[in-house]
Amino acid sequence: MAPAASRTQPDHPLGVELMDADHARIESAIRQAAVADDADLPALHGEIVSELASHFAREEELMRAHDFPGLHCHFAQHRLLLEQARRTGAMSPSALRRHIGVYVAQLVESHVLTLDQVTAAFIRGEFGAERFEGLRLPPEAPAT
Ligand SMILES: [Fe+2]
Repeated sequence: MAPAASRTQPDHPLGVELMDADHARIESAIRQAAVADDADLPALHGEIVSELASHFAREEELMRAHDFPGLHCHFAQHRLLLEQARRTGAMSPSALRRHIGVYVAQLVESHVLTLDQVTAAFIRGEFGAERFEGLRLPPEAPAT
């Protein structure tokens, strides 16, 4: 399989280097679904799921480093998104192409435009933790 053409700018730049670089790479891989051979789609899907998992781990570390108060919600959405992206069952090539190019693409874009955008604004210093005080968020459980 030909490697996904890499882009330097994501569809929705957030002004946080790690997030923008990762998002551009993920979006490029997702776009490959439109042109990939049928036989290459399962491997492409595997690469995208793997890249999403790695990206989420990097982004979660960044959030911890900045004490992002919405960490718990953001983690939960990462887990749900990954679970949905992974779920393919026995799909035909055309269904897998749609799963990647439409469903996963929309999940990623929605995530970037909601939780990632809020997180990036917090990291850029546009507002502080006081904005989260009314949410009564559960404390993040330590990793086991
Ligand atoms: Fe995220």
